[in-house]
Amino acid sequence: MYDFNTLGFIGAGNMCEALLVGIISSDFFQAENIILSDIREDRLKYLKEKYNVKTSIDNRETVKASDIVFLSVKPQDIATVLSEMEGILNPNQMVISIAVGIPTYFIESYIKEEVPVIRVMPNTPALFQSAMSVLSKGKYANDEHLNFAKRLLSCVGEVDILPEKLQNAAAAINGCGPAYFFHFIESLVDAGISVGLSKDIAYKLAVQTMEGSVKMLKESDRSPTELRRMVTSPGGTTIAALEQLEKGAIRFFIIKAIKAATNRAEELSQKLNK
Ligand SMILES: NC(=O)c1ccc[n+]([C@@H]2O[C@H](COP(=O)([O-])OP(=O)(O)OC[C@H]3O[C@@H](n4cnc5c(N)ncnc54)[C@H](OP(=O)(O)O)[C@@H]3O)[C@@H](O)[C@H]2O)c1
Repeated sequence: MYDFNTLGFIGAGNMCEALLVGIISSDFFQAENIILSDIREDRLKYLKEKYNVKTSIDNRETVKASDIVFLSVKPQDIATVLSEMEGILNPNQMVISIAVGIPTYFIESYIKEEVPVIRVMPNTPALFQSAMSVLSKGKYANDEHLNFAKRLLSCVGEVDILPEKLQNAAAAINGCGPAYFFHFIESLVDAGISVGLSKDIAYKLAVQTMEGSVKMLKESDRSPTELRRMVTSPGGTTIAALEQLEKGAIRFFIIKAIKAATNRAEELSQKLNK
C-alpha cells in the first residue's frame, strides 16, 4: 500500500483550480498537504489566499515536496516542465498528467527512474465538478496507482479506466464531446428562431430539454432507442423531424467526425518525439 500524503500541481490554471476545489471539499487531501507551482506569481497568490494551500514559483521545489506530482500545464509546456524534473523524481512518487494527447512513454522518456505515470483525459465539465475522465497507466504504474488516481479524479466527476491505446478514441468522445453538444444547442437555437421563437426562449427550451433528456438516460434503465421511441408516434411531428436528420445522414457524419478527431489525435501524438 503506497503512502501518498502530499500533492503537488505543476501549472495552477483552470483545471488545477477545478481539481483543487473537488479534492479539498471531499477531504481527499487537506489544503496544508497541497502545493502548487506556476510561472504566474499573481495566480499563486490568489490561489494561496483562496484555498490556504502552499505555493512555490519553483517547480523543482514542488516536485521534491510532493508524493503525487500532478502535471497540469498545457501540452506545449510539458517538455519544458519535464526537463526541469530530470533526476529529482523517485519511484515512490507518482506522476499524473492531464495534458491532452501526451502519451505516458513521452513523460517516462524524460524521467530516468522507474516512476509510475498515469495519463488522464478529463473534460471541461471538470470546471463544474461534472467531468468524465478516462485514465490509463504507464509502464511502471500498477493497479494500486491506477485506483488511487481514479479516487483522486473522482473528486471532479466520473472516471473510467482504459488501455492507453484507446485514449485517443475516448478523447474524441469525452474530450471533444462538450463542443459537439454546444454545437447542437447552437443549431437548435437557430432552428427555433427560424420557426418564429425568440433566441432566449429557443435557448431555454433547448438547454432544459437536453438536461431533462440526460436525466432520463441516467435515471431510467431504458436505452436511448427506447427513450426516443417514447416520443416518436406514428405519422407524428418527431418522426417528421427525424426523417430529415436521417436524410442528412446525421449518423454517418457523426461517425466520420469521431474518426476524424481520433485520427487527428493519433497524428498529433506521432509528432511528439523527444
Ligand atoms: N481546460 C480543459 O477543459 C481541459 C480539458 C481536458 C484536459 N485539459 C488539460 O489540462 C491541462 C491544463 O489546462 P488548463 O485549461 O488548466 O490550462 P491553463 O489554465 O492555461 O493552466 C496552465 C497554467 O500553467 C502555467 N504554466 C505555463 N508554463 C509553466 C511552467 N513551465 N511551469 C509552471 N507553470 C506553467 C500557465 O501559465 P501561463 O498562462 O502564463 O502560460 C497556466 O497558469 C492542459 O494540459 C490541458 O490539455 C484541459
